[in-house]
Amino acid sequence: MTKLPLYLISAALLAGTVGLAFSASQNDVLPASASNPRDFNTFYAPAYRLPDPATMSSSAASGKELIHSTYKYLGVESGIRAANGRPFVGNKLACTNCHMADGTQPNASPFVVVAQKYAPPGIFNARSNILLDVPNRVNTCMERSLAGEALPRDSQPMKDIVAYFDFLATGLQPGFTFKQVKGQEFPAVALLTRAANPERGKDIYRERCAICHQNSGQGIWLDDQKRYLTPAVWGNDSFGLMSGMGRLATAATMVWGTMPRDKVNILDPSTRMPQQDAWDVAAYLLSNNHPFGERYIQDWTGVGPDGMPNWLRKPASASYDFTMPRSNNGAATDDPSKPPMFTREQHTFGPFQPIEAALKSARNARGFP
Ligand code: HEC
Ligand code: HEC
Repeated sequence: MTKLPLYLISAALLAGTVGLAFSASQNDVLPASASNPRDFNTFYAPAYRLPDPATMSSSAASGKELIHSTYKYLGVESGIRAANGRPFVGNKLACTNCHMADGTQPNASPFVVVAQKYAPPGIFNARSNILLDVPNRVNTCMERSLAGEALPRDSQPMKDIVAYFDFLATGLQPGFTFKQVKGQEFPAVALLTRAANPERGKDIYRERCAICHQNSGQGIWLDDQKRYLTPAVWGNDSFGLMSGMGRLATAATMVWGTMPRDKVNILDPSTRMPQQDAWDVAAYLLSNNHPFGERYIQDWTGVGPDGMPNWLRKPASASYDFTMPRSNNGAATDDPSKPPMFTREQHTFGPFQPIEAALKSARNARGFP
């Protein structure tokens, strides 16, 4: 405990070790050297400005609270269950554990213009073979990142989350489109030309991550608040293998853009670790176990609106159905009688270029880009 960064020690003490109430949000205790909410508007200017919290409706305020402490309100201990009897949050994470500062931090997949981006009819998603509007997009993270269940569209928690996104969307400045807002999603990283190395990643983890996420990977849980001070990065309480974070190429972008939490300054990209370190440490996280549901073997089935079979859009680092694509004498196919084209190992750690190339030539052979 004494080796924790100062802001975490004070937060942990306030949060319960000495029995005091803890009300400040985590960002209030971040050191000035790291991402600072006061810098967000500097980053987003001129296209976007965070709206005045005083203009937030009570529904939007509830949505923000749900983003901040998702497990507390929708996890197993809440008593609330989906129609199939499972809790809506299957692990112990909250949305803000990845979408930092309650979805306002640039380069941490912020929610600032999600309402505009996923406006009806929504964006086609080949993985689930559906159009993603805002509620559907929320639910893909409920089911996959939180290893849980979809919230009914007309449920109060879903309405509150949508209201919070609508509130954030009012910050788009006149004369700009949502596409002009910088810092959306996680920042892109270049593919490695070698396989990522979880052994090297383990050394980086011990040196740069374990102080907060612990050698066990289980983070620091604040039982009185039913949320993490520092979240689990593997094990049953961490993100699902069937989520974006379960794919190395996405996990590497998230880690590179945001971690270590107290070192990355959003206004100064030179504070980020080398990209190959992000790949290797993310590979170490994925070399440990993560929740997985068999129903996700159905992913990337069906045919998209442009007539292209969805398996041809499968990201190379989706590892749980490593049997797709199959190999027909070296050409990618979905014929289940053929052997898998690549090993699970290669879908997990790369190199990914050969997988991408095989899918691209199979698309081209069918007249798609
Ligand atoms: C100073 C403490 C600290 C350090 C060091 C740190 N993290 Fe984090 N990490 C956090 C916090 C806190 C969050 C949750 C975000 C929030 O609440 O703002 C987080 C979130 C994450 C998440 C997403 C949520 C989850 O549990 O899956 C991943 C992955 C992650 N960190 C990986 C890493 C890696 C890899 C390193 C080392 C390179 C690292 N972190 C270093 C504090 C830290
Ligand atoms: C373990 C990390 C993690 C957690 C927790 C998480 N997400 Fe996500 N989310 C992601 C990643 C990674 C993406 C990027 C999409 C991808 O590649 O899958 C994403 C994308 C999104 C997007 C689309 C953003 C855009 O700009 O297109 C929305 C909206 C979203 N998540 C909502 C939520 C909500 C709401 C919650 C809580 C119920 C949540 N997420 C929890 C990791 C997470």
